[in-house]
Amino acid sequence: MTITSSGIKIQKYSPNLGAIITGVDLSKEINEDQFKDIHKAFLDNQVLFFQNQNEIAPEIHLKLGKLFGELHVHPAAPSMPGYPEIFEIHAHKNSKVANGEFWHSDVSCDIEPPLGTMLQLHILPETGGDTMFSDMYSAYNELSNKYKSLLDGLIAIHESEHLYSGRYEDRGVNRDNIKTPVANHPLIRTHPITGKKAIYVNRTFTTGIEGMNKNESSSILEFLFEHCEHVNFQIRYRWNKNDMAFWDNRCTMHRAIWDYWPNERKGRRVTIKGDKPV
Ligand code: SIN
Repeated sequence: MTITSSGIKIQKYSPNLGAIITGVDLSKEINEDQFKDIHKAFLDNQVLFFQNQNEIAPEIHLKLGKLFGELHVHPAAPSMPGYPEIFEIHAHKNSKVANGEFWHSDVSCDIEPPLGTMLQLHILPETGGDTMFSDMYSAYNELSNKYKSLLDGLIAIHESEHLYSGRYEDRGVNRDNIKTPVANHPLIRTHPITGKKAIYVNRTFTTGIEGMNKNESSSILEFLFEHCEHVNFQIRYRWNKNDMAFWDNRCTMHRAIWDYWPNERKGRRVTIKGDKPV
């Protein structure tokens, strides 16, 4: 365990990615030193799990997100009434879908996809409802040099119509009022701050590769989806009430497990805008 000068305790979660963070109360505004330590821990560990937390008020949650950048408004999902930048994660006995059930990096179909996402869960099922994360730096590093050079320069197509159209109708979102972005991104991206390379495709949004026919792109993408979802790159997080996870969408994927139906799981998600991947 590392204890920073601002008193934040950082405990590694797995050799590859993740850290448990204690010693900071996110329901109050954090100071400059705490921010610097959290930012460094975020870059070093890719996903942080803040434990022993109280419920964070929406205004404080938004302020915390804004310390890391401009906030993102989801193109299709319902927001919390009065808070367009808060996406309510909610599944219960009448839900038709739960959010994030397949591996993805948040809204990778946006031209400037989110840098990171902060999710606090307030209502949890008695068991289940874990979230899995996968490390896209390690997934890249484990490829052979020959395969890396094959991927170098390829541009992947990320779409959302197939996912978003009608998805949130049971939560009162009319399909005419949503956006369904499409974006083309380098298949291998370089993290703008750490400078490390990561694979940037996922089976939720990535549908093809520029300049390749369907068979050619499918064979590469299917291999990469399976490779990126390998257990060696993964962690699985079991939530406690009011834990907050903060993940880096530029170098991780995640998947929320809906194994708790008909029980309820609910929380608030604040997402931070990112740069155009390079
Ligand atoms: C998501 O934001 O993709 C959902 C994550 C979760 O509910 O654990």
